[in-house]
Amino acid sequence: MNAENLLQKAQTAHRLNEAELEFLLTEPAAEEALFQAADEVRRKYVGDEVHLRALIEFTNICRNQCLYCGLQAQNRALTRYRLDEKQILSWAEKAVQNGYKTVVLQGGEDAFFTVSRLTPLLQALKRLGVAVTLSIGERPREEYFALKEAGADRFLLRIETTDRALYGRYHPGMDFDNRLRCLRDLKELGYETGTGVLVGLPGQTARSLAKDILFFQALDADMVGIGPFIPNPDTPLKDAPKPALTPALKVMALTRLLLPQANIPATTAMETLEPRGRMKALQSGANVIMPNVTEGEARLNYALYPGKACAAEDPSKCRGCLEKQLQAIGRTISQGYGWRVKRNG
Ligand code: 5AD
Ligand code: FES
Repeated sequence: MNAENLLQKAQTAHRLNEAELEFLLTEPAAEEALFQAADEVRRKYVGDEVHLRALIEFTNICRNQCLYCGLQAQNRALTRYRLDEKQILSWAEKAVQNGYKTVVLQGGEDAFFTVSRLTPLLQALKRLGVAVTLSIGERPREEYFALKEAGADRFLLRIETTDRALYGRYHPGMDFDNRLRCLRDLKELGYETGTGVLVGLPGQTARSLAKDILFFQALDADMVGIGPFIPNPDTPLKDAPKPALTPALKVMALTRLLLPQANIPATTAMETLEPRGRMKALQSGANVIMPNVTEGEARLNYALYPGKACAAEDPSKCRGCLEKQLQAIGRTISQGYGWRVKRNG
């Protein structure tokens, strides 16, 4: 196989098979050319604008036990919190004043937030004139339907890994097929649907990452968030090796080649591994940033992994800081909602 030919094919046909993806993931000589190809495809299909999404981490209470995640129910080292509606709305209003056009409500799988509690909150958020994204985990189809009716526009639910054996190992008590069911329901119900994976889980192979990318394509994901797995000292995976940024960037760049119109964030986990990691990602296929607008204690206690970028910053500073960084790489902040671009209109 020849990396140059493969990249050329991917750049025009947006197709690669499993073996080709695996080859590009493992061939170090292809790295720079891959990032450049992804950058060109990003510019051609989604342009130079970067969409900012204001992230509100509204509960860190979670019923699940994901072995890598600091929010897992068994972690006693974490101070748990749940924001009330007033607090969520006040940060959302601030985000709107600061020019954000999307609010993302992200939380653990917290049973307190029933459809009847989320409905008035979604309605109030919609009155602010923003697009609303939910990232609250697995729910029955009826609930996804009701939340869509209440105003939710988008939903993020990473598959985390499409390797069933790995998925089983890292998600005790969870069911891979139910997660697939959730993603299909979200798509069918008309949500802009985001998924994604962790890169660098112990036992994960290039072949399995290649399958992940093909899964995003088969689902026709509207958004794909990819992040390096960062070992958390308060979890069972605390002794896993510290990851590098490049493997996650490669998975992300290949995702851009195969899903040219998708919205792809430069993730906070990337920035955590390397200062300016997000800018690197934006130059390797990404077109979205999700600044955290959560404040105070909550901002510190939403500890998925250690050393989270900007955790100690005042969120109002992040916007200006990003603006400068974006300007330096020739990119602008989008004034629009940043819906997923469709090829024919
Ligand atoms: N390192 C990196 N990302 C993590 N996530 C959870 N724990 C970690 C970790 N230790 C990611 C998961 C989840 C998202 C909200 O955060 O992929 O979907
Ligand atoms: Fe948060 Fe720079 S983006 S301080």
